Amino acid sequence: MRAPDPINLHDYERLAAEQLPAGPLGYYAGGAGDERTLRGNEAAWASRPLRPRVLVDVGEVSAATSVLGIPVSMPVLVAPTALHRMAHPAGEQATARAAAAAGTLLTLSTLATSTPAEVAAAAPGAPRWFQLYVTRDRSISRALVDQAVEHGFDGIVVTVDAPVPGRRERDHRTGFRVPADLDMPAVTAALGHSGGVSVEDFFSVVDPAVTWADLEQFASDCEVPVIVKGIQTAEDAALACEHGAAAVVVSNHGGRQLDGVAPTAEVLPEVVDAVADRLEVYVDGGIRRGTDVLTALALGARAVLIGRPVLWGLVVAGEDGVRHVLETMRDEVESALALLGARSPEEVVRAHVR
Ligand code: FNR
Ligand code: LAC
Repeated sequence: MRAPDPINLHDYERLAAEQLPAGPLGYYAGGAGDERTLRGNEAAWASRPLRPRVLVDVGEVSAATSVLGIPVSMPVLVAPTALHRMAHPAGEQATARAAAAAGTLLTLSTLATSTPAEVAAAAPGAPRWFQLYVTRDRSISRALVDQAVEHGFDGIVVTVDAPVPGRRERDHRTGFRVPADLDMPAVTAALGHSGGVSVEDFFSVVDPAVTWADLEQFASDCEVPVIVKGIQTAEDAALACEHGAAAVVVSNHGGRQLDGVAPTAEVLPEVVDAVADRLEVYVDGGIRRGTDVLTALALGARAVLIGRPVLWGLVVAGEDGVRHVLETMRDEVESALALLGARSPEEVVRAHVR
């Protein structure tokens, strides 16, 4: 008997967990320390119940919106995650085609198994950002940014919550190593190879000494908008506004960095208040349902990003799986908008959440 087809993101997670070997599964699914923040992220969206309004004409509902002026089919973007070729041989190119088909934006990781040029060629004209880890050898990150800009990436997402990797005990227990046949071009440029390296090895290429002054310089030199990912306090949100960011992502890296930090659903309001409409605010971490997306919008986010569910889609069915994961989210967002009494993401306001 054939297993039932997946109909939501939890189904994809379960199916992917059945298919993946222990090492890759632990790397993708795991968090830091006791995984308190990992669990908290997902649970916290449920702790802010929605407040639906009725007798609103919802005959025409659309999830479409924009991020930094880029039209997208829904307020759900693809978060940067490393090592897509470990999930499926077609890797980031498959993810890029799926995001384009679903009408949303892909963020390509510095620690990808494809180059910015390859991803651009896979989905020409589709919206995309490049996620930057500033490397110790600045010529490596500079070349990646140049390549991304040259190939039409619309923004650079600078990740600021990972100067060093979190303590991820699943990787230690499984003895996780990047599969020998995979190439992470940024890591190979720094270390000479990337197959067989550990998480600590590949993070060793990231410069832990980057500061706000570096960010400001980078943002003023950069030809495209700079988005700062990994903001968790009002103080840092204000600094991001003052140092040239075009947007911020409230994120704790999916619970993979400092364990014990508050879930992003709890942090989002303080960041939104500190930013006070000076720039766009996005959020990620544990978002698995259209209703979670609406909670984030009600708390002031313009859009959300999803990380692991995209990997699960890739594992289960490659490009088609990622596309189905994204289209499922879009369907859920549209249905929840109608039931909340809002015709579009822009109509969701703070009063829609308790
Ligand atoms: C990540 N994340 C991440 N972030 C980043 O800026 N650069 C990266 O290379 C990666 N790599 C990465 C790998 C894996 C396996 C995971 C799970 C996550 C963090 C990611 O962008 C995002 O913040 C979280 O994944 C969001 O949480 P959810 O949706 O996975 O719960
Ligand atoms: C991680 C990196 C790659 O979370 O950001 O594993």
